[in-house]
Amino acid sequence: MEIIIQQNKQAASVAAARVVARLVSEKPDAVLGLATGSTPLPLYAELIRMHREVGLDFSAVTTFNLDEYVGLEKEHEQSYHSFMWQNLFSQININPDKIHIPDGMTTDVPACCAAYEQAIVDAGGIDLQILGIGSDGHIGFNEPTSSFASRTRIKTLTQETVADNARFFDGDESKVPRHCITMGIGTIMAARSNIMLAFGGGKAEAIAAMVEGPVAAMVPASILQHHRNAKVFIDDAAAAQLKRADYYRWVYAGKPDWQQDA
Ligand code: GLP
Repeated sequence: MEIIIQQNKQAASVAAARVVARLVSEKPDAVLGLATGSTPLPLYAELIRMHREVGLDFSAVTTFNLDEYVGLEKEHEQSYHSFMWQNLFSQININPDKIHIPDGMTTDVPACCAAYEQAIVDAGGIDLQILGIGSDGHIGFNEPTSSFASRTRIKTLTQETVADNARFFDGDESKVPRHCITMGIGTIMAARSNIMLAFGGGKAEAIAAMVEGPVAAMVPASILQHHRNAKVFIDDAAAAQLKRADYYRWVYAGKPDWQQDA
């Protein structure tokens, strides 16, 4: 894992966006895995800026979102479908035919999940997966004790995640769906590279457990220790509980020029 600590989320997001932009520039038909939540918003804003100001071209890019709530119509303002259109897709030149988000209204969940996995394979696999982390260490909606071998499937949210996400549902936990369809941990690990973002003191404990704790199903994100190409972009607050923070800063400061953004 490469740990990149920046002073604030803006700087960390710009650094992460450069990695995404480099891939899309070098491989215009790249396959991106996308995340929702508040964390990737400044990253998406920077990609939109690059599209507008320097012509970053998404026309041949394919995307797969990590997850979707079960039982929310695409048009629901809190569906991840709505989130993605509002915060990214409507502002870049992506081809709508190349966008994939699990269907939270499917009447056949197992078939929908199998088709999602197959679509990823048919697209050639995910080149770069963007991830956030839940305060309980989840990635996608793979809650603690999720199998490291799991693939896209239905999951039940933990009470902690329901409480965390109630802020998007008028603070009313009863409005938060209990179920979701999420890529599995095995799906995420099959991506050729992963970028994790986390900001703020509320993520510090989860980040320390992910980076420096034992690899354990109780901290789903810790599996990234086994990934060949995982970068973790965090701000000072999210880095606060890392024992080796000074070492990670030292490594990043000494990175050779040719390796920047790679
Ligand atoms: C949700 C999403 C995750 C996201 C997490 C953190 O549960 N399924 O993909 O990483 O929340 O959200 P936030 O970025 O708002 O803290």
